[in-house]
This record gives sequence, structure tokens and C-alpha cells, in this order.
Amino acid sequence: MAHISASVFTSHVPAIGAALDLGKLAEPYWQPVFAGYDFSKQWMKDNKPDVIFLVYNDHATAFSLEMIPTFAIGCADEFRPADEGWGPRPVPMVKGHPDLASHIAQSVIQDDFDLTIVNKMDVDHGLTVPLSLMCGQPQEWPCPVIPFAVNVVQYPVPSGRRCYNLGKAIRKAVESYDQPLNVHIWGTGGMSHQLQGPRAGLINREWDNAFLDRLIADPEGQAGVPHIDYVREAGSEGIELVMWLIARGAMSDNPPKVRHRFYHVPASNTAVGHLILENT
Ligand code: DHB
Ligand code: FE
Repeated sequence: MAHISASVFTSHVPAIGAALDLGKLAEPYWQPVFAGYDFSKQWMKDNKPDVIFLVYNDHATAFSLEMIPTFAIGCADEFRPADEGWGPRPVPMVKGHPDLASHIAQSVIQDDFDLTIVNKMDVDHGLTVPLSLMCGQPQEWPCPVIPFAVNVVQYPVPSGRRCYNLGKAIRKAVESYDQPLNVHIWGTGGMSHQLQGPRAGLINREWDNAFLDRLIADPEGQAGVPHIDYVREAGSEGIELVMWLIARGAMSDNPPKVRHRFYHVPASNTAVGHLILENT
């Protein structure tokens, strides 16, 4: 049977993608950001999964106000890096895993979570920047990726509790797949940031770090935090963090092993947070 062995959590700042693509890695502003992922790139090589289930949000790229799925699972063979206004990022095509994705859709929908099935979708910085941070600049991504898009852009957004319980349903789905696959689940987006309005530029280090503590040690408690707390404390785009609860909910009920933890400000308008948790 398939199993989930680890989860990865990371911010997805678009300027990080631009810094990589334009060869600015060694610049003093970016160097400390990328240094936080040196361990992670080696860890990815040492712990290469068979499939990554990548929870992220689309930023009005594949979807728009015309269509707003709360949860969308990518079941296609492949997904193109999106053109977000400056041409597509020069990164590999994302290969999917239609068979496992369809199995997860079947299981999770029968478990009462209404997913939108997507058979054609371009993937934006929400998905490609985490892959770049964890894998560097390879010719091909190391394994197939199942994109799982969550609406955190247009209200109403799903609650932390719903995300956490959905993660548990995804775990059950993966564990009932009839192939011995090693699956990693990633939760991406965040940490504190606000891109517009009078509070633009908001960063809340204390809240971010308390979130990381709680995500590790008390995800049940964190799942009960209402979305308005995220918005007030972590900014309007800080709500992206609820997606991390999907990946956390998919981990085993035993306390996880923390393999890596990183937090850095500044990176564009965002606090960068990053965790690698292994199942024990
Ligand atoms: C920034 C962060 C985001 O999450 C995003 O989607 C767009 C911009 C930023 O920090 O600039
Ligand atoms: Fe974002």
C-alpha cells in the first residue's frame, strides 16, 4: 500500500522564483533565504519520494472570479508552468500522477469532501516556487506531483478545521492505494504578509513562530483557530497558512520528528517559514 512518510511546509514568495531564474541566489538580500533551504535540498535527494501531493493556492491564474473551487485536485498527466504576466517561469513541466490523483478523488469525495476535479490547469508560483526551493534548478522535477489547489484568495475560504480533517481523509485515501508508493505531502503559502491596504507590509514574527510551534505540537488546537485570527494577526494573505493544516492532518497521529525548521524576514513582502516533518 502507499504511505505518507513526510510533510514539507514552505512559503511561496514569487520574487524567490524570479531571484532563482535571474541568477540572483548569491546576492546579499537573497543569500540568507536560500541558505535556509540547503539542508532541504539535500534531504530531498536523500529521501526522494515517489509522488508529491502538493497543497497550494492558485492566485487568479488558472481560476478567476468566474470559477472559484474551494478544493481542486489536478488529475492530468502534466501541468504547464503558468504565464503570470512575464512569461512562464523557465522550470520543468510538472508531471502528474493521474491514477493516484483519481484514487484520492474517489476516496475523499466518498468521505464527504467535495473536490473539483481538474484535468487541465496551468500552475503558478504557488506551486513552482516551493518546488524550486526544495529541488533547485533540475532538468526535470524529481517525481510526479499532484497539484491540490485551495481557495484562499476569494471569500469565503475554508476553515482550519475543514482543512485539517481533509488532510486526514487524504491520508486514508493514500493508505488505501494499492501500490507501494512513498508519498510526501506539502503545505505551502504564508507566512504573515499583507499585500494591500493600510496594513500592507505587515509581518508578525511572534505569531508566525507560535503557529509553527503549534502546527508541530498541537495541530488539533491550531485547527480550531478561526480565519479572522489569521487575517488580523498574519495579514490578509497570511490566511494562506490554513493550507498547512491539510498537510499536517495527513501526517500520522504520533508526534512527528522535526527534521528542519527555518524562519526568515524579509523576502519580498513575506515572512518565509519552512518545516520538514517526518512520520514516526
Ligand atoms: C508575495 C507573496 C505572495 O504569497 C504572493 O502570492 C504574491 C506576492 C510577496 O511577498 O510579494
Ligand atoms: Fe501567495
